[in-house]
Amino acid sequence: MVDDGRVDELAGLPARPVVGLLHPGMMGAALGSAMKRAAGAVIWAAAGRSDATSKRAELADLVGVPDVAELARRSDIIVSICPPHAATEVAEQVAAALGDRAHRPLFVDANAVSPATVQGIGELLGVARVVDGAVIGPPAWEPGRTVLWLSGAAAAVVAELFEGSPFEARALGPDLGAASALKACYALQSKAIPAAWLAVEAAARGYGVQDALRSQLARDGVDLDAKLDDVGARAGAKAWRWVGEMEEAADAVAAVGVPDGFSRSAAEMYRRMAEEGPTGQHER
Ligand SMILES: NC(=O)c1ccc[n+]([C@@H]2O[C@H](COP(=O)([O-])OP(=O)(O)OC[C@H]3O[C@@H](n4cnc5c(N)ncnc54)[C@H](OP(=O)(O)O)[C@@H]3O)[C@@H](O)[C@H]2O)c1
Repeated sequence: MVDDGRVDELAGLPARPVVGLLHPGMMGAALGSAMKRAAGAVIWAAAGRSDATSKRAELADLVGVPDVAELARRSDIIVSICPPHAATEVAEQVAAALGDRAHRPLFVDANAVSPATVQGIGELLGVARVVDGAVIGPPAWEPGRTVLWLSGAAAAVVAELFEGSPFEARALGPDLGAASALKACYALQSKAIPAAWLAVEAAARGYGVQDALRSQLARDGVDLDAKLDDVGARAGAKAWRWVGEMEEAADAVAAVGVPDGFSRSAAEMYRRMAEEGPTGQHER
């Protein structure tokens, strides 16, 4: 696969590239583990990261290096998988570490960001060296559920590195931003629309009509508490991270002239959930 000659003039990757992973969160640890088969080594940067990240990296058998600068120097390909609001900062750290080095690693931004954000990262690190990535599905330790969408000039090269792994990698063409656009549209239904139930309940509670609303909705066959439980269970401890994702999704839809209110409202409802906890949103 990676040593069949297709890898690659464009990407300039060696047969078994060193993969730098920023950072081994829940998704990052799974992505890093998935790349071990094709990689010479998968390395991660310890500086500033929590014990939880360190533990995940250890369990995934990734190789620690001291910091982002060292990781950037040693990597043939860098995968950024971090909270969406930190995506640009991580790319800037890599750019600073690389300086004006001639041989530049491929950089895969696999975060839930807007097309404009990933295009900005392309300007920073070189459009031909950046690949836009979007993960849809849970951290994948088994095949079958999770797709890694990729777009950009070297998308197909990156997709090859995931062959036979738990992540199904699909190249979406050469446009930097296409994968992020797809993820933003997907997130409108998976995260923004469910957040409407949080707003419905909070508004009814604000007016003191929440019990009447429950009763009225029940006549329509809608169980408001089940809706709230569902969104609370899915967002749960991740609500703080969904704030940034919903803001990025809002920027994405606004850029093509679609009203961004659904996503902005969802961002605010998840911000409140993160502050109050999943059950703080509604009374029972
Ligand atoms: N989990 C999922 O089901 C899922 C599904 C699809 C897509 N994704 C995408 O995957 C990305 C990461 O999700 P995750 O589930 O892996 O999150 P996570 O478990 O919270 O891990 C986030 C990682 O990023 C690090 N981090 C936190 N704040 C940072 C900052 N300001 N700058 C740089 N790094 C920072 C964390 O390090 P510390 O431990 O030091 O905080 C951790 O290693 C997101 O873009 C998300 O949209 C996740």
